[in-house]
Amino acid sequence: MAKAEIVFATITGNNEDIADIIAENLEDKGIDVQVDEISQADVSDFEDADLCIVCPYTYDEGNLPDEGMDFFEDLKEVDLTNKIYGVAGSGDTFYGEYYCTAVDEFSRVLREAGATQGTKDVKINLSPDTDEDIATLDTFADELVSKLEE
Ligand SMILES: Cc1cc2nc3c(=O)[nH]c(=O)nc-3n(C[C@H](O)[C@H](O)[C@H](O)COP(=O)(O)O)c2cc1C
Repeated sequence: MAKAEIVFATITGNNEDIADIIAENLEDKGIDVQVDEISQADVSDFEDADLCIVCPYTYDEGNLPDEGMDFFEDLKEVDLTNKIYGVAGSGDTFYGEYYCTAVDEFSRVLREAGATQGTKDVKINLSPDTDEDIATLDTFADELVSKLEE
């Protein structure tokens, strides 16, 4: 059975909601899914998975989650060749050019670690509660699984 590791960072719950929506979707497709809060996760969890997914918030004008810095730095040291990755995070469009920049950053380090991007980066404004958000996250999960099956 294919394995997915989903790592999220959250203060007010929106990115945990995103992680849970993706997890449910992947489980429905028969994937073995593990969801971990970023400060409790280790990059070895990604080394042991087929699908590597990050759901980060962005703070203080383009900053990564503080409690995710160790994980972020450790990603620069691992080889994730043959892994498929996806990044879907919540931010707030109010922050303009800094909107969800943590999504861009995690996508970059995962790519640099050798992982293959399975679907385009997803940025959700605040809570993932519109029909459009749900559809976007469904497509995110669908495309990741298709890529895995290639
Ligand atoms: C002080 C502060 C700074 C923020 N800075 C940014 C930012 O630079 N870019 C962004 O997209 N969102 C920013 N946000 C919005 C959060 O990323 C957004 O509320 C997100 O949904 C929080 O995710 P969470 O519920 O998982 O904690 C900021 C929020 C606060 C309170």
